[in-house]
Amino acid sequence: MEELIKPESIQVLVADESHERYVDTILKTIEEAAKVRGTGIAKRTHEYVANKMFEAKAVIALAKMPDGTERFAGFSYIETWGNKQYVTTSGLIVHPDFRGLGIAKKIKDLTFSLARTRWPHAKIFSLTSGKAVMKMNTQLGYLPVTFDDLTDDEAFWKGCEGCVNVGVLRERNRKFCICTAMLFDPEEHLPAKIPQEVIARIDRLEGRAAHSQELRD
Ligand SMILES: CC(C)(COP(=O)(O)OP(=O)(O)OC[C@H]1O[C@@H](n2cnc3c(N)ncnc32)[C@H](O)[C@@H]1OP(=O)(O)O)[C@@H](O)C(=O)NCCC(=O)NCCS
Repeated sequence: MEELIKPESIQVLVADESHERYVDTILKTIEEAAKVRGTGIAKRTHEYVANKMFEAKAVIALAKMPDGTERFAGFSYIETWGNKQYVTTSGLIVHPDFRGLGIAKKIKDLTFSLARTRWPHAKIFSLTSGKAVMKMNTQLGYLPVTFDDLTDDEAFWKGCEGCVNVGVLRERNRKFCICTAMLFDPEEHLPAKIPQEVIARIDRLEGRAAHSQELRD
């Protein structure tokens, strides 16, 4: 078997216009991985993926090779649904030559942070049959949910049309399928809510403390 050349370093960053040159490679890598997994895919056009880069909604991993060249190593992007009430991190792919190096995890962490920063109140969900993705979702605080808890945005569900299991989804009226639904609800991750009167009391106490500090100074 051909020995793989190890990259010198891997850079994971929010993509921009300069990365459009990688779009066709990204789409080809996604397509080939779907064939191997036998799942079918949500088809994306060159323009759609390039736009994600222009809008700072995509993350790319680039490998610096020992001969000084740069190679595409991985990719993912974020999408919003239902009037930005929901977000997904989608299209996660790591090129077969660079798997098992923790790149997917770095990409996932960055897309997750990007989504949390841009839409802090949105629920982030995932519909996946991938074990690695389930593991990463769990590490980030996603919990398994039923399909009812996901967006009812038709545009999202249209993405399932390319999947080999879409018949199951349709038969079950979108209530079940082969994939596992997982959700990160930001409300559940906030600290416990402090009643307004307690906050007012703390403000008063802090005001007094600051005042007495001033007197002491
Ligand atoms: C799935 C995929 C993105 C993983 O990429 P990767 O860079 O090799 O993954 P990482 O090295 O970052 O591993 C992330 C975690 O997933 C686990 N993992 C990776 N591949 C796995 C696999 N095939 N089965 C089970 N767990 C796996 C790792 O052990 C790691 O967990 P840890 O943090 O507890 O150690 C890559 O194999 C791929 O592109 N596959 C084809 C496309 C695909 O399946 N995309 C997901 C769509 S749902």
